[in-house]
Amino acid sequence: MASIFPKWTNKIPLLIGAGGPVVLIGVIGFIWYYFSPEYTDVGYQPSQPVPFSHTLHAGELGMDCRYCHNSVEKAAHAAIPPTETCMGCHSNVKKNSPLLTNVRQSMDSGKPVEWINVHMLPEHARFDHSIHVGVGVGCVECHGRVDQMDVVYQAEPLSMGWCLECHRDPYPRLRPPSEVTNMTYDPVAEGYDPTQDPERRREVTPPDHCGACHY
Ligand code: HEC
Ligand code: HEC
Ligand code: HEC
Ligand code: HEC
Ligand code: HEC
Repeated sequence: MASIFPKWTNKIPLLIGAGGPVVLIGVIGFIWYYFSPEYTDVGYQPSQPVPFSHTLHAGELGMDCRYCHNSVEKAAHAAIPPTETCMGCHSNVKKNSPLLTNVRQSMDSGKPVEWINVHMLPEHARFDHSIHVGVGVGCVECHGRVDQMDVVYQAEPLSMGWCLECHRDPYPRLRPPSEVTNMTYDPVAEGYDPTQDPERRREVTPPDHCGACHY
């Protein structure tokens, strides 16, 4: 009688016995590595086509983040400001500065400045600024001290483990929604208790099921 399985399959139980644990350890190691906050792009700092400084504009000049990133409370993405926003000041301030050559060229040609993305989630992950900012998660929680960055870099992992760390215990990291762009406000030092804030009318329950963040 012909066997349904070729002869070599007899060895499969043996192979599983010997190789199984190794494969399993490999898989666990892979997942552990992938999901650990160490597997990240922290520190990624591309150089930009214009030496625009957040230390100067957001720090020293004290401009609010929303003056330039004006969609951050309404949309998933935080808009990068168009050249017109810069020229609102720089058609007068430092109008002949060589550091602003690319800005003036952009204004003349109508082509936007080609800023390089710093923060980028993979295609399959979903993130919405308006929800986080609206509920009182400050920019500084996820982007660090941008007001002290001459050149923007990625300060936090933005990994899945990092997202979930907050999602499982968000309350200590909430602040009054009026302080979301304040880089120096520290909810712990201020003794802020979100459950006692009369401005907050509902419980905050960030999701941890896969479909919330993945397409
Ligand atoms: C005067 C306008 C202006 C202000 C004010 C401003 N930004 Fe920006 N921001 C920009 C521009 C232009 C870029 C793109 C170039 C760059 O990365 O430096 C940018 C880039 C960024 C990025 C990186 C975006 C990416 O590509 O991932 C973050 C994060 C950011 N800003 C956060 C902030 C925060 C937080 C504040 C307030 C403390 C702020 N910005 C204030 C103009 C501004
Ligand atoms: C809960 C974390 C979190 C908070 C709070 C947050 N961001 Fe972001 N930000 C991100 C992530 C994640 C990305 C990358 C998004 C992507 O690739 O889809 C990002 C990207 C950006 C970008 C690049 C454009 C974009 O939307 O992809 C800018 C500019 C920015 N953030 C500014 C801000 C400012 C200003 C604030 C505060 C008003 C803020 N962010 C608050 C996590 C956060
Ligand atoms: C509200 C006004 C204002 C806006 C809007 C603004 N800036 Fe500025 N910017 C200033 C001031 C003030 C200085 C410092 C001038 C000085 O050093 O005397 C400056 C300095 C600069 C410098 C350094 C110039 C030099 O020669 O030292 C660059 C580059 C620059 N800004 C780029 C930008 C870009 C790009 C944007 C748009 C994303 C922008 N700025 C938006 C007010 C503004
Ligand atoms: C510092 C805390 C914090 C971090 C970090 C954080 N979140 Fe959230 N997230 C929240 C809070 C708070 C809510 C709002 C829950 C509510 O409205 O009840 C929320 C809600 C959400 C929601 C549900 C609302 C929606 O958009 O449908 C998604 C999805 C989400 N977060 C994705 C992410 C992703 C992806 C990351 C990482 C890149 C991330 N979050 C990082 C605190 C955080
Ligand atoms: C709070 C948001 C959030 C939730 C909930 C979440 N993820 Fe993720 N996940 C992310 C983010 C953000 C990334 C991308 C991290 C990075 O940049 O590497 C990611 C990455 C991944 C990756 C790695 C893919 C790759 O190579 O980039 C897998 C696999 C994954 N998630 C599966 C899951 C599964 C399965 C669940 C449910 C048990 C889940 N995720 C729930 C936010 C989330």
